Amino acid sequence: KALRKAVIAGNWKMNKTRPEAKALIEELKPLVADAGCDVVICVPYTNLETALELTKGTNIGVGAENCHWAKSGAFTGEISADMLAEMGVQYVVIGHSERRQYFGETDVTVNKRVRAALDAGLTVILCVGELLEQREQGVTEEIVGMQTKIALQGVSEKELKKIIIAYEPVWAIGTGKTATADQADEVNGCIRGVIAKLYGKAAADAVTVQYGGSMNAGNAEELLNKEHVDGGLIGGASLKAPDFAAIVKAAS
Ligand code: G3P
Repeated sequence: KALRKAVIAGNWKMNKTRPEAKALIEELKPLVADAGCDVVICVPYTNLETALELTKGTNIGVGAENCHWAKSGAFTGEISADMLAEMGVQYVVIGHSERRQYFGETDVTVNKRVRAALDAGLTVILCVGELLEQREQGVTEEIVGMQTKIALQGVSEKELKKIIIAYEPVWAIGTGKTATADQADEVNGCIRGVIAKLYGKAAADAVTVQYGGSMNAGNAEELLNKEHVDGGLIGGASLKAPDFAAIVKAAS
């Protein structure tokens, strides 16, 4: 665990106008300036420019919440990985369960987007996670394993260094229901096992696997203390600077 980089990333989802984003980032900057982990904020497209400008010269990285797989073309309403990279964006969330649930994202399109993001030089925060029904059916490991395997098809061992995996049980997202630290550790460990099978032990030991799903200032430390939990992807709690900063502190 000591060898791995802890990464705390905020996923703002569809929140914050530009003035609101500006206020949040300005409040956050001093609170995380001495972070002992990597700090990232993934923001709506409309806030990327603001976020990049305001975080220049700070320890806060900026990410988008999705990207398309094509380089350019007739895809009304979409944004390409190249467009993000050109702006200076460093990270992109791919395969979030809300995209899978509401926007027809599949394991195959997730894989295509991962490829495009890597080709553009972005670091990918790849989200995987089971539905409540799947957990109850006892297939969590299989579902998460399959999502991980398909998403990484055609990704080389070298490219894996630009992949962060976020385990987000769908039933824990925005519900206030956190996976227990043991549940998170168990599935994160399974994901690491899948990576070991695909890329070998050294790669698996080095890959950052986050937990996401109602992580907050109160439960972060217990989750982050687990062997296989190398950081967090934070939704609701990333919208309040002191809460997000407390999670960063717990990871530092
Ligand atoms: O991507 C982060 C996420 O889905 C978790 O959201 O609000 O439960 O922290 P939240």
